[in-house]
Amino acid sequence: MYKSEQLALSLKHLIESGAWKANEKLPSLRQQAQISGFSLITVMNAYQELEAQGLIYSKEKLGYFMAEAPNSLEIAKTVILNEKIEINSTVFRYLKSIQSENIVPFGIAFPDSQLLYSTKLMQTLAQRAKHHQSYEQVPSLPPGNLELRKVIAQRYCMQGIPTDPSDIVITSGGLDALNLALQTLTKPGDYILLQETIFYGAWQAAEHLGLRVITIPEHPKHGLDLEAFKNAISNYPIKVCLLMLNSHNPIGFTVSDEIKLQLAKLLQEHHIYLIEDDVYEELYFDHKKPLSMKYFDQQNLVFHCSSFSKTLGASLRIGWVYAGKFSENIQHLQFISTLSVNSFLQNSLAAYLSHRYYEKHLKSLRHTLKRLKNQYYQYLIKNLPDTCIVHYYPSGYFLWLTLPEHINSNVIYQTMLEQNIGIASGILFYRTEKIPHHLRINCSFELTESIKQALSQLVKSIINFQR
Ligand SMILES: Cc1ncc(COP(=O)(O)O)c(C=O)c1O
Repeated sequence: MYKSEQLALSLKHLIESGAWKANEKLPSLRQQAQISGFSLITVMNAYQELEAQGLIYSKEKLGYFMAEAPNSLEIAKTVILNEKIEINSTVFRYLKSIQSENIVPFGIAFPDSQLLYSTKLMQTLAQRAKHHQSYEQVPSLPPGNLELRKVIAQRYCMQGIPTDPSDIVITSGGLDALNLALQTLTKPGDYILLQETIFYGAWQAAEHLGLRVITIPEHPKHGLDLEAFKNAISNYPIKVCLLMLNSHNPIGFTVSDEIKLQLAKLLQEHHIYLIEDDVYEELYFDHKKPLSMKYFDQQNLVFHCSSFSKTLGASLRIGWVYAGKFSENIQHLQFISTLSVNSFLQNSLAAYLSHRYYEKHLKSLRHTLKRLKNQYYQYLIKNLPDTCIVHYYPSGYFLWLTLPEHINSNVIYQTMLEQNIGIASGILFYRTEKIPHHLRINCSFELTESIKQALSQLVKSIINFQR
């Protein structure tokens, strides 16, 4: 590879990680030569190569600038109808395969449980365990413990979303919330809209409920492609959208407030419901918590679903749905299925959340996740071949990798599994006729010697398949 191609590739990675905003000036040729250590002519050739790819543009005498939309995710730009979905067996086999304690957990969807441990929560549980009132079943029946719904409602209010405890229904985790919301709003054969790449739970729910799924591709810069969205809703009778707009699983992006506002307007104009999966809402690295679509919702069209699984532990199995006037519909479904969430846990969690402990816990969790994600990212960009893209976004604990198109991520997954290393292949998150060539890596585990060793085995395996 020529030096200029080498430099163009590393600059491309920087562009894709959001190093420059649209229309922002890039370092001058001279500055870039100093930064990179390459000659002026190499830098010029690299810039020209990026310009030819449409990633940057030049202005006479002013230098080079970031273009509007770098095309980084390489995902087809089409709206697709997925009528027959068959993913449940794939997900089941995958989850079983990585369940053993001996498997390095890069493939799991939960953060390292050590990071979620809260001494204060454990103390609260121990104190509450002594009181028989904590176990009373009736106050915990749907819609759930009032004190818990009050603290959750307060958290919405703090974000400028007027909320009454009666808007909230406590569920058995976020997945239950999503399923209950989908069941409330759809019947078999209805059209729903999903992002082309999305948490497998959304695909599973659609398969289970016999829904027709329209997908829209991710926008390489904005995350959500509004043009594709408009195209989809004007061509199909879509009843409900199920979207992730904050710390998207698996890719990681967070959609801007401007795009969220545009989306809310379109939903209102066309009277389409939105189920918003926001289980990573607290895991942002910047100073401000991203807004949820509920903030822009003027017509009660948004079912906001979240949980404590990613911050205090999935074993709590406590989540909620902001159901508003649909609260009773959700409760009806609960009375014929899961009934109530564990009353002792609801009661104790309410007590814990009413103090500042949770905020402190979140602050330290975000700090650690930011550090770890950065370490994994640095390791991967340094050691993976230039032909791989590591997508970095400042939130959550997943890194999404785009491999060269000829590398089958299912084969990498199988190869790693034989070495007791779990990773999540792209096939869990999108439907495709082509070879899947993406991987999701959970980077919430401290880079101990054994974890580093596993990461290095993964890198080696990708390099071997590249040949
Ligand atoms: C995007 C997304 N939504 C929902 C869930 C389910 O969360 P819970 O464990 O609270 O049911 C997960 C869990 O991995 C997830 O990643």
